[in-house]
Amino acid sequence: MSANEKQSKRWSVNRSLFYLLFAILYLIPITIFFIDSFKDVLHFFRRITGLTAVVSLFIAIMLTLLVKESKKLFGVYFLKIHHFFAFIGLLLISLHPVFMALDFGTTEIFIPDFSSWQTFFKNGGPLALYLIYIAVIAALLNKKITKSWKYIHALMYPAFLLGTVHGIWKGSDMGNPMLSFLYTGLIVAVFITFFYKRYQKK
Ligand code: HEM
Repeated sequence: MSANEKQSKRWSVNRSLFYLLFAILYLIPITIFFIDSFKDVLHFFRRITGLTAVVSLFIAIMLTLLVKESKKLFGVYFLKIHHFFAFIGLLLISLHPVFMALDFGTTEIFIPDFSSWQTFFKNGGPLALYLIYIAVIAALLNKKITKSWKYIHALMYPAFLLGTVHGIWKGSDMGNPMLSFLYTGLIVAVFITFFYKRYQKK
């Protein structure tokens, strides 16, 4: 086998491993969710959207560590696969509170709660959502705000951390230790990635 063939074989093995990892990251919360079961359609959608949105946003963030390798690894350039998972995450996390509002019959849930540190983090969902929207709008306007869009887009990091802490604290499926352990692991990985990328830049 030529060196090139060996190289492309190695990339395709790595590709399969990454896709397997992505599948496992989705399958664990979805399996636990079905074990916990649900009482009706709105109870189903309000939880499954939160759980799978966090996984999608996590993958979109972690893919920023593979910008150069993306074409060889996934067969597409970084932005394509980054936008794919970011779009799914954005759609799911936007639907999450909508199902909540329909189920609870109130839109008050969209108002961030600053009454105490505990409620700030437990009910951190609304603020995290608005930070996600600001970060996405900055990316969409990258041609207009050329100098600062990346700094605003980096709000995705605190938004992800706050949103996932809210999910672990508020989520009815997070009573399962395996799930809360996994989502805590996602927080730690994104935290390390943030500082690793700053260090790389330096
Ligand atoms: C207006 C915005 C938001 C509201 C009103 C909201 C509200 C809630 C509520 C009430 C729950 C408990 C649902 C249940 O377990 O029955 C919940 C769970 C959850 N939320 Fe949010 N949230 C919002 C935004 C977010 C954001 C931005 C994220 C992540 C980036 C997020 C991630 C989660 C996760 C992972 C769960 C756990 C679901 C489960 O255990 O099944 N939420 N949210």
